[in-house]
Amino acid sequence: MFRTNTCGELRIADAGREVTLAGWVQRVRRMGGMTFVDLRDRYGITQVVFIDEENAELNAAANRLGREYVVQVVGKVAERTSKNPHLSTGDIEVIATTLNVLNPSEVPPFTIEDESDGGDDLRMRYRYLDLRRTPVRRNLELRHRMTMEVRRYLDSKGFLEIETPMLVGSTPEGARDFIVPSRMNPGQFYALPQSPQTLKQLLMVSGMDRYFQIVKCFRDEDLRADRQPEFTQIDCEMSFIEQDDIINLFEGMAKHLFKEIRGVELTEPFQRMPWADAMKYYGSDKPDLRFDMKFVELMDVLKGHGFSVFDNAAYIGGICAKGAATYTRKQLDQLTEFVKRPQIGAKGLVYARVGEDGTVKSSVDKFYDQATLQQMAAAMSAEPGDLILIISGDDAMKARKQLCELRLEMGRQLGLRDKNKFACLWVVDFPMFEWSDEEQRLMAMHHPFTHPKDEDIPMLDTDPAAVRADAYDMVINGIEVGGGSIRIHDSALQAKMFEILGFTPERAQEQFGFLMNAFKYGAPPHGGLAYGLDRWVSIFAGLDSIRDCIAFPKNNSGRDVMLDAPAPVEQKQLDELQLLIAPADKK
Ligand code: AMO
Repeated sequence: MFRTNTCGELRIADAGREVTLAGWVQRVRRMGGMTFVDLRDRYGITQVVFIDEENAELNAAANRLGREYVVQVVGKVAERTSKNPHLSTGDIEVIATTLNVLNPSEVPPFTIEDESDGGDDLRMRYRYLDLRRTPVRRNLELRHRMTMEVRRYLDSKGFLEIETPMLVGSTPEGARDFIVPSRMNPGQFYALPQSPQTLKQLLMVSGMDRYFQIVKCFRDEDLRADRQPEFTQIDCEMSFIEQDDIINLFEGMAKHLFKEIRGVELTEPFQRMPWADAMKYYGSDKPDLRFDMKFVELMDVLKGHGFSVFDNAAYIGGICAKGAATYTRKQLDQLTEFVKRPQIGAKGLVYARVGEDGTVKSSVDKFYDQATLQQMAAAMSAEPGDLILIISGDDAMKARKQLCELRLEMGRQLGLRDKNKFACLWVVDFPMFEWSDEEQRLMAMHHPFTHPKDEDIPMLDTDPAAVRADAYDMVINGIEVGGGSIRIHDSALQAKMFEILGFTPERAQEQFGFLMNAFKYGAPPHGGLAYGLDRWVSIFAGLDSIRDCIAFPKNNSGRDVMLDAPAPVEQKQLDELQLLIAPADKK
């Protein structure tokens, strides 16, 4: 037997037993005539002791061990004289009688401890070593438990797990595709799926009724902390349902996961907020509701007093930071710098402090008398000790987004974004379309298969930009953790949608004919949702980036630095695929 126990298993009740352990050398310490080796595996750490007096040769061999050697140890479990309460095995140690080096190790490029000394790039290059570290391994364990619970929940609700292909056709809507050349069909390409959206709809046409898949999706888009080019969805679709059925079932799943994974019991129904309110009050379709700090529009109060910045603005909005009137001039200057950063793009920031005596002092006092400032403070429900921060702009949407960034920053600075607090919310009633400056046309906000609200269908002809969709997103702590919609199941309505999106009937047929044809053969009303697994795990684990819960993630340039991918391929492979690489653009 290779081992009788794992390194996380032995307890005081095992004292006196002869055991065999196997694992990695975490640390070697020499004290007096003894050598202590911390032996580690996935399950924990056990202290192994080599005693010089009993076996000098063995002790000498233990002294030659280096970090990360793989060893097998036979020995006797004994109660420790100085116990370690931080270790589950801290009451015992194993007095070694045999040491077997299974594999030596070079000195690792960084220390494999909870707090590693390795930088990000180095740890990613040696990710297999990084994964030996307990905090990283715990994230993968949590991810595993999460997928097990997802399967358990969905199975109990009658969902079938069905795999869909990874080599599919390229679709023009959405993000950019990763494309794969076909050797057998020269000059033609597969695409990796951005999501199994159309395939799961076809499974509904097939009568599968309830489908799910824990599935890799691929999107060639700019990366951020919560975006990877390949990520995992918990993808679901249901037939003969309405929006409320889906929301209720997946809210149930969210609550199940919170309880099983985080031990948090959420009893209240999640708030549902129309998209228009989310934009109006928080400047975002994914507001962080762990704290309030709602926007208040101040156009009526602040316009027309001779302050040209406000007088010419299309939007003036403020937030009230409770108890922050103590902010110093320096802190306020830093906030101004923050909103003026190019990524945020505000022209400036106006602030007003409400003093303990109730008087309001602002950075634009020369334009406003105390009565107007009081009116503003009242509009914002500001109290003595509060700080009011105001942003204006000539583009209302942009100004709201800037105020949103400021709100999030203030929430952070005031400690209101506690990772152990959870604010779950459904954003509903999304617009069907959004205008794309780049494409100079309407684009589907979710995707082209989303059903418009029945009462808004007449506006498809007259005012498509005002049409709302049966679409919903789930947001936790300001992160979009899932989204879905009721789908169109009528080929004529689907064709109309493509027309509004600027597709000619021929192009719509070419790209999506398979779906529109399927809808001619008895498509049931259906809808669904996809949760982002990586985002869920990172919220549950309190991570700043989803990278930390992915075994082998890509870096911010989309590279796998461990595999050194992407990389050029051999000319032979290009020839087989009939591909020519254009010379680099020398512009
Ligand atoms: P959507 O595009 O909103 O919907 O994606 C669903 C969820 O997947 C997660 N997600 C991502 N996670 C990590 N990295 C990414 N690059 C990334 N992109 C998306 C988010 C998001 O909410 N087919 C539809 C779903 C449906 O309508 O049923 C879809 O893909 O958490």
